Amino acid sequence: MHTLNKNAPIGFFDSGVGGLTVLKQVKAIMPNESFIFFGDTLHVPYGDKTKEELLSYSTNILKFFEEKGVKAVVMACNTTSSVVYNDIKDKYGFKIYPLVQSCAKILSRLNINRLGVFATKATIESHAYEKEIEKHNPNIKVIGQYCPQWVKIVENNLTNTPESIEIVKNDLENMMKNNPEKIILGCTHYPYLLGILSKFAPKELFIDPAPYFAEFIKNDLAASNLLCDKNERFEEFYVSASAEKFALASKLFYDLPQGAKEYSF
Ligand code: DGL
Repeated sequence: MHTLNKNAPIGFFDSGVGGLTVLKQVKAIMPNESFIFFGDTLHVPYGDKTKEELLSYSTNILKFFEEKGVKAVVMACNTTSSVVYNDIKDKYGFKIYPLVQSCAKILSRLNINRLGVFATKATIESHAYEKEIEKHNPNIKVIGQYCPQWVKIVENNLTNTPESIEIVKNDLENMMKNNPEKIILGCTHYPYLLGILSKFAPKELFIDPAPYFAEFIKNDLAASNLLCDKNERFEEFYVSASAEKFALASKLFYDLPQGAKEYSF
């Protein structure tokens, strides 16, 4: 890795508004940093895509960030962290933070035996959560379940409809048959559904990994002497399609005063 500029921005990417749940936590503890966010809304949902497709989308986005001169890229997406991180991790001259791998150590310290994971089909089928948690604590049994409709509900701003509530309730009931002691929201879109989930189960049952992830990123940047020391911060938002829809769906988690720019590869 070449010498990185500590005052360069940090890139974030996801298939859409989900990644903003991570950006929000990072901004809360690193308010001096500059951020460039990319939402690949042309290809959402990532959870149904093949590894080849995910590799191609991620490569385009990482090249975009390379041109922007970032010091780090946050994979604010469980799916790409689970499916493509290992293939791309050594190919760029900046730091890359994958969500699942970065949080596994801290999650493995939970003093429980049965851990549920709600995530996309691709994340569940990769078994990334099981594999990463087992490296640190083989005593936790991970119970994965994918929730095929949840990302669409969030992206289409349908979090309050009776149909959405019914879908989330049914998926939760299925998971509860396995008696999980905690459930990880293993897709960055899912914290948008915490309001519905907590109508049917105690809020404390659910773990959003984003605060742990933000802490990990801050500690790593600090250890590498890469925390920004200037006061001229900025934020930019890009999407590959439907900028207005993105701005509307993001409202629950992030205030986008200037909206997002559309950018195609
Ligand atoms: N939010 C992403 C994740 O954490 C991707 C969801 C999707 O587009 O299917 O996995």
